[in-house]
Amino acid sequence: MREIRIFNSKDELYNAAADVFAASAAAAIAGGGRFTAALAGGSTPEALFRLLASDRYKNAVDWGRVFLFFGDERMVPADSAESNYRMAAESLIKPAGIADGNVFRWKTELGLDQAAEEYERAVAGLFDLDAADRRPDREWPQFDLVLLGMGTDGHAASLFPHSPALSEISRFAVPNKIAGSESERLTLTYPVINNSSLVMFLVAGSSKADVAKEVLEGEFRPDVLPAQLVQPVNGRLLWLLDEAAGALLKR
Ligand code: 6PG
Repeated sequence: MREIRIFNSKDELYNAAADVFAASAAAAIAGGGRFTAALAGGSTPEALFRLLASDRYKNAVDWGRVFLFFGDERMVPADSAESNYRMAAESLIKPAGIADGNVFRWKTELGLDQAAEEYERAVAGLFDLDAADRRPDREWPQFDLVLLGMGTDGHAASLFPHSPALSEISRFAVPNKIAGSESERLTLTYPVINNSSLVMFLVAGSSKADVAKEVLEGEFRPDVLPAQLVQPVNGRLLWLLDEAAGALLKR
């Protein structure tokens, strides 16, 4: 089930996203004693993370029962200004006092392939699954929430157009390449993302208006627009956009 909400301002967008995060966390913790979330990187989520760490929300979430992963990571050191982990550490993890044991970053210092293997083991460990299983019908982790942004090229996480990871059906975590570029990334795969209970896209700014229209209302061509293949099998799909990003969408 796909739901699209467009907000008049960034403030309203981020408050709505924080409300969804806090409500999902409360429900998961009440139901199963913990909340597992994979965070998005890039620039859009930072304001959400700062809001979640603010006095307004900090006490609305039982952070000791929250386990944070990252949907993707750049192949940079954890203290790099480009690191998705560093952005979250500075805007949420440290300010909210979230314990290191509750946070699972991609260990890029291990090198590309080893970092992906280690992340596969970390995800398997928290969800009590077999990290070595490579059968396509293996049991998949079910995150309570996967938070995603979207690039102007329609990528989500580090699932880039025409990239090898788009066809990955047996691993949780893989290296990936951006077509036509040397830059290397690490990403969760579609089967993991699409097995989650809730996927929440957070999209803001006029630069995303065209791609939002193509992804949400245009022809289905996921190799070109990877965000189109984010379709939770049993979970909810929620798109939150500000007015600028949603300007071209049918109302
Ligand atoms: C990353 C992100 C990526 C991001 C989009 C949108 O590592 O960059 O995980 O998937 O969500 O590129 O980025 P912005 O929010 O900066 O527009």
